[in-house]
Amino acid sequence: MHSGPDSERIVIRRAGPLVGEVTVPGAKNSALKLMAATLLAEGTYELSNVPDIVDVGIMADLLAAIGVQSQSLGGGCWRLVNGGQVDPFAPYELVERIRASINVLGPLLGRYGRVELSLPGGDDFGSRPIDIHLRGLEQMGAVYELRHGVVHARAERLHGAELTLDYPSVGATENLLTAAVHAKGTTVIDNAAREPEIADLCAFLVGMGAEIEGIGSSRLVVHGCEPGSLRATDHRVVPDRIQAATYLAAVAVCGGEVTLREARAEHMEMLLRRLREMGLTVNASADTLAVFADGRLRSIDVATLPYPGIATDYKPLVVTMLAVADGVGIVTENLYPGRFRYVEELQRLGADIHSAGHHAVVRGVPHLSGAPVRAPDIRAGAALVVAGLAAVGTTTVAGVHHIDRGYDDLVGRLAALGADISRVAV
Ligand code: EPU
Repeated sequence: MHSGPDSERIVIRRAGPLVGEVTVPGAKNSALKLMAATLLAEGTYELSNVPDIVDVGIMADLLAAIGVQSQSLGGGCWRLVNGGQVDPFAPYELVERIRASINVLGPLLGRYGRVELSLPGGDDFGSRPIDIHLRGLEQMGAVYELRHGVVHARAERLHGAELTLDYPSVGATENLLTAAVHAKGTTVIDNAAREPEIADLCAFLVGMGAEIEGIGSSRLVVHGCEPGSLRATDHRVVPDRIQAATYLAAVAVCGGEVTLREARAEHMEMLLRRLREMGLTVNASADTLAVFADGRLRSIDVATLPYPGIATDYKPLVVTMLAVADGVGIVTENLYPGRFRYVEELQRLGADIHSAGHHAVVRGVPHLSGAPVRAPDIRAGAALVVAGLAAVGTTTVAGVHHIDRGYDDLVGRLAALGADISRVAV
């Protein structure tokens, strides 16, 4: 069930230990990029393990406006049909709703030689420029102009280039990859982002016939192919490490014993190491994490970094765990300047947090106390839900539509583990 803005609240009461099994859905930040990559070649694609989230529907609408028709087949399977009638214009009304809409830039420019795209929206946690995307495309021969908030880009045919990214941007790496598959010659992307979702996109592109070396590393080498030579393919979306981390955090604050199915430990190594330092027991086997927590965790200091560092998207969860841990933890945000907005909401729940600039000092308290709060974005929203599980009394989370953008039935999954949680209409 998905909510319109503010038509629902999530109501949470303090939970005892969580017990049972939860299956982690596919990753939003892979599924959306795979969908955009269907612009690269005509044919029928089937994606499985696609999460049931609002952003997937928005991407489907955006692709429909451009010329790819998507249909949910149920059970996390989507069929996407690129019939070759592509119009490389991305309308503002859809683009402004999700950051991932920027991912149509690379495929459209590489395959069709032109694109008009409004600057993308997404979460409101500071400025999110696209200079690295544009500089790389320019080095590959594209010319672009920014007029009235719209990027107008053209290229006769992109050519291969040696690119070194100023910063390992996830979106820029993806756009340059999906542009390079149709470029004339070889493109090297150095200082590429290494997130598992990028390796998933590479695997999809290879399935379409692209030639990519260095998958999973920070140096990607793409041998361009003739436009028209790639083909549609089927693909299973990689499990969502951020949703997986959310269930780990829930067990960390409630205690309990939970098995996460379809969670890849190798994609979460740094986080797991730090959670073990906090006192969480996590045993990993193929695609499964067994988590056990009993009593209060210990505080640690944490800094966010690009993969394989601690992801910025984990941070609200980490701050929430520290809020009820034993001791003081210092959290440093290195990716987004404005990503501490939810701290005020955690303070409403009794958390002892002081934030200034990129840092937050979190003094653990024995327990939080329930209160009405509002989710400011997807990840902070989920963290507030987790905080509610550790709060005495009742917590109501508004802004549920943010959570629905990236979480596939968070409430149902937590309830199945024994949490006292429900959605109510207002
Ligand atoms: N940046 C630039 N110039 C650029 C591109 C990025 O300065 O051209 C800066 C950004 O402003 C930001 C930092 O680099 O400060 C990281 O940006 P990046 O491009 O790596 O991130 P993104 O592609 O915009 C994706 C995820 C985010 C996640 C980040 C970092 C999607 C749709 N979004 O964003 O996920 O936080 O990578 O891992 O994949 C979420 O899912 O809730 C979410 C926000």
